[in-house]
Amino acid sequence: MFHKKTIKDIDISGKTVLVRVDYNVPIKDGVITDDYRLKKSLPTLEYLIEKGCKIILVSHLGRPKGKIDKSLSLKPCAEQLEKLLGKNVHFAESCIGEDVKNKIRELSSGEVILLENIRFHPEEESNDEAFAKNLASYAEVFVQDAFGVVHHPSVSVSELPKHLPAVAGLLVEKEVSAITEMMENPPRPLMAIIGGAKISDKLDIINRFIDVADIVAIGGAMANTFLLAEGIEVGESLAESEEVPKAIEILGKARDKAKKGSFVFYVPQDGVVAKEMDSKAKTRIVDWGTHAIAEIENYPKHPKPEDSLVQKDEKILDVGPFSGAFIAGCTQLARSVVWNGAMGVTEIEGLQSPTGPFSHGTELIVEALMGQFGHRPKSLIGGGDTVGYVESRGLTDKFDHVSTGGGASMDLLSGKKLPGVEALQDK
Ligand code: 3PG
Repeated sequence: MFHKKTIKDIDISGKTVLVRVDYNVPIKDGVITDDYRLKKSLPTLEYLIEKGCKIILVSHLGRPKGKIDKSLSLKPCAEQLEKLLGKNVHFAESCIGEDVKNKIRELSSGEVILLENIRFHPEEESNDEAFAKNLASYAEVFVQDAFGVVHHPSVSVSELPKHLPAVAGLLVEKEVSAITEMMENPPRPLMAIIGGAKISDKLDIINRFIDVADIVAIGGAMANTFLLAEGIEVGESLAESEEVPKAIEILGKARDKAKKGSFVFYVPQDGVVAKEMDSKAKTRIVDWGTHAIAEIENYPKHPKPEDSLVQKDEKILDVGPFSGAFIAGCTQLARSVVWNGAMGVTEIEGLQSPTGPFSHGTELIVEALMGQFGHRPKSLIGGGDTVGYVESRGLTDKFDHVSTGGGASMDLLSGKKLPGVEALQDK
């Protein structure tokens, strides 16, 4: 259960509210290429509009490091929000100063104003108290609805709640509830699919899932570090050799758990490799075997490290067909699946398939989780690249929960507290 007050737990009618949203969306040539985060902020905004509030929106975009960078202006978000809400959205060229204050004073009930990128001011990330007090003076209530940033302390995450009554927006409530419920009370078997580039970013989440899940499958470049730990050559693939001791530790922990009962920890047994990472690259499939599977009874463990076939000038860029089928197949045995991180390089559009030459593994999981193979497990998808992929395929509504937060969802899945949520009023 969500243990913090939300906008529905307080008397908010007619109040002036400062709402932190996460409109950190991809923008190309002034055009938003993916407005998922804007759409997900609508339930909170519509509720506040209905309650006759005056709504001041604060967000960041990108990482301007405390300097004004016009390419990171939130103006396109104001324009897009206007279309989504079907009503006028004012925009202020800064988030501080007399002009902003005047514009806020002129707001009528149910009107919305979006302030310019808060990260244009170094005070946001240095947690400056005076800056927080200044922003707090605009409103009577602070609403935290920027799930994507609640893991990073900053003025608009952890400082503002010290200066205003602070409650959660409906997106933050939904995200935290969905993720916590999945970790605390999942329909079992629970499977975790963890991909992405770096093992160093995901140590906590892998460890947590070895503790709580029934099946853990690894993919993406991160798997290469596990392959190194198993003595398998990975050529020029992205891998973190300095993390090999950690990978060995994780494999040891997984094997110990597998020996005690029914548990599978799976690292790809084959991959799609190429010399170049581009859409016309000549690809081939390399099968290095099954050493990295932890203790699946009777599963063949024939290959030896010397059978490794990735050449010195090749890169592993996707999971291979056996691994993709194995992982997708496991989802059909699971009743719930948490997925964080792509299986391969999904950013490259290619000739071999509409989704790109190194997207097959990721696509297979998308299809499996959507129920294309017969069974549709409960699904929770998080992590920037995974969510980006699902969005680019226009499929976000096909899953039970697609998180708007990358780092925030990972921290919550790892069992960490989120400072931006902890700072809100208790129920
Ligand atoms: C995100 O896109 O993950 C959030 O908006 C947070 O952005 P940040 O990593 O720049 O803080």
